[in-house]
Amino acid sequence: MRAGVLTGGGDSPGINAALRSIVRFGCKHGVDIVGFEEGWKGAVENLVRPLTPIDVSGILHVGGTILRSSRTNPFRIDDGPQKVIETLSVNAVDFLIAIGGDDTLGVAHRLGEHGVKAIGIPQTIDNDIAMTDYTLGFSSALEAITDALDRLHTTAASHHRVLILEVMGRDAGWLSLMGGVAGGADVILIPEQRFNVDSIFRKIKRREHLKKRFSIVIIAEGAEPEGTEGQVVEEAEVDAFGHVRLGGVGQYVANQLSKRMQIPVRVTNLAYLQRGGSPSPFDRILATRFGAASIEFALEGEFDVMTAIHGTQIVPVPLGDALAEMRPVDEGLLYLVDLFE
Ligand code: F6P
Repeated sequence: MRAGVLTGGGDSPGINAALRSIVRFGCKHGVDIVGFEEGWKGAVENLVRPLTPIDVSGILHVGGTILRSSRTNPFRIDDGPQKVIETLSVNAVDFLIAIGGDDTLGVAHRLGEHGVKAIGIPQTIDNDIAMTDYTLGFSSALEAITDALDRLHTTAASHHRVLILEVMGRDAGWLSLMGGVAGGADVILIPEQRFNVDSIFRKIKRREHLKKRFSIVIIAEGAEPEGTEGQVVEEAEVDAFGHVRLGGVGQYVANQLSKRMQIPVRVTNLAYLQRGGSPSPFDRILATRFGAASIEFALEGEFDVMTAIHGTQIVPVPLGDALAEMRPVDEGLLYLVDLFE
């Protein structure tokens, strides 16, 4: 049996650990693996390379993806799905393992209608895929955000100012909320709740009355100010999956706050620093389990499924169901936004 594996969309720490697991567990069970480079681009253009245990040696702790990534969408290319099918056929690939977020996994699911057998591994720092407790990469990004907030705290405490940290999260505030709780942010802003600059201002003023000379605000890139058109966009041009590039909402808040207060307001955009670097122990273990499970499911003949973690168990969930809707922050966790206010 032969599997093809690819990694698409925004990368995150832990992908290489998953590739290592797929190859080593596959080898143990008589499944050989080829890798398609640069996401769906490699599957369309037949950019293929063998992946043997020696090829994945020494990559458990290495961030990024040795297969590289792209945001190619075969359904936006002439005969794209047909080209993918041809690539699979010339390489004698029986099934595909796609590692990525909703866009990458959405392509894998749609290709099912063309007869392609696929399994998805949910990977995005945003943690916004339904039917799994965690996506690969979220834990590592959270560590980076927590570390950034710890660093901002020591410099903030030495001055009288407001520091704003902008983090990723297009439609879901997992990184902002959990990062904000772990790093002790004073104001947490997430896409699930429109924010009001006056109320942020009042929170900061209340802290000043308590003799707190600094405030730290964490904001998700997708958070939307009340009474405006919507999300703050850095680049309006859409990618192959119809997404604009978000960015700048931290600066928007800073500009608005600066008009209301005397103390300086400064912004840090953590950007790709939260997506790069080594995977956390949690992500290394999750990747190893997801990778092995993807082979296991295939050997059991289960396709069009996604590996998911429910509590401590790794289970298959239908890809179509998992992708039907984005996963916002659980309502039961929203109390954490203003726990101490
Ligand atoms: O990986 C998902 C994500 O982190 C989003 O939160 C963010 O909007 C996007 O990637 C940005 O990625 P890129 O700049 O690589 O397109």
